[in-house]
Amino acid sequence: MQTQQLSLFPYLEAESATRPPDFIPIYEPWLGRREEQYVLDALRSGWISSLGKYVTRFEQQFAAFCGVQHAVSASNGTTALHLALHALGIGAGDEVIVPALTFIASANAVSYTGATPVFADVDPITWCIDPADVARRITPRTRAVMPVHLYGHPAPMDALNSLAERYNLIVVEDAAEAHGAQVHGRRVGGLGRIAAFSFYANKTITTGEGGMLTTDDGALAARCRMLRDHAMPPEKRYWHDEIGFNYRMTNLQAAVGVAQMERLEEFIERKRQIARWYCAGLAEIPGVILPAEAAGYTNIYWMFSVLVDAPFPLSRDALIPALRERGIDSRPFFHPMDTLPPYRAAQPRSVSLALSRTGLNLPSSPSLTEDQIAHICATIRSLSAPVQHANGARQTSPQSPISNLQSPIAL
Ligand SMILES: Cc1ncc(COP(=O)(O)O)c(C=O)c1O
Repeated sequence: MQTQQLSLFPYLEAESATRPPDFIPIYEPWLGRREEQYVLDALRSGWISSLGKYVTRFEQQFAAFCGVQHAVSASNGTTALHLALHALGIGAGDEVIVPALTFIASANAVSYTGATPVFADVDPITWCIDPADVARRITPRTRAVMPVHLYGHPAPMDALNSLAERYNLIVVEDAAEAHGAQVHGRRVGGLGRIAAFSFYANKTITTGEGGMLTTDDGALAARCRMLRDHAMPPEKRYWHDEIGFNYRMTNLQAAVGVAQMERLEEFIERKRQIARWYCAGLAEIPGVILPAEAAGYTNIYWMFSVLVDAPFPLSRDALIPALRERGIDSRPFFHPMDTLPPYRAAQPRSVSLALSRTGLNLPSSPSLTEDQIAHICATIRSLSAPVQHANGARQTSPQSPISNLQSPIAL
């Protein structure tokens, strides 16, 4: 697999020259001959901007994959989220409830509209937004709730849709990290009013940069398409009733996307296999808590992630450099939004904070082999021996709300 990538994409060779040959990165896109063939085809056709057959094909394939009527491509996941919120008429004076534990794009998309993101805490097992805390934060100004399917586990959509119905809220799924994840057999992307996906290079499928909206609401999809193209109605050239955006995806990006779509099911299956290998290899290491898959939910394990807490002898922050020294890349969880300067609150949400301090993303490329996963697990296990680490004293407080949890995993 590695050889195929390197011979096909010389820039990867150049990049890999700067790192040891057996270094395991956190994520690598899996690109092949089909991507090359479709991009060349788009290039040779001359349709290199946002008109062209690949954009339409990608949108149709993605809508079918999610089981929805409409898909609207965008330049990236952040612009897709902003477009959705703007098209829904969300703006100044409105509030949108967003999980505190997410990537900042979820909150920023709300801020771009002039509305205020209100942060709800997350569930300690699934790491997704907690409906009980959402309910506590609803005010007369609340217009929408934006569940995030964090690291590939779907948010509790049934409970959120019930709340939305009761309080007349719009549900906007942030599905950037969860292509193909399911709730009771239905794929994310079709579980709220509208959903946004990302195709950044580390996502389950990639177009380099790219995004997609999915919805069953034809009028909303048409409005998103129009706003994405400077608010120009398709039937009236250079006429603009309002201020829109240029948030279009190019035909070149979509050509990569069409090729990636042909392998999406395979990538998801590989990621679930990788999760099974990790779960077997990391089982019963004291202080290493495995990710959950709630009953009725299908986690795609976009980033296979664990919590590292007492009695593991190294703190999460000490484990990251220890793994790096041994040729293994990893990432800390996101900082909770309400601890970051633009959104800082006096009292950050406690579960999000505890998860953020202990959560660790492990290498999750779909191309990883069983041997590589076994090596990563053995390395973590070897570090779990209770030795004295001069600079690695753990930071976690004994009252951490996650320290007594063992998440069940049902793969
Ligand atoms: C939860 C979440 N929302 C939104 C985004 C934004 O997507 P993009 O990077 O394509 O703008 C990301 C991407 O990393 C994400 O993880």
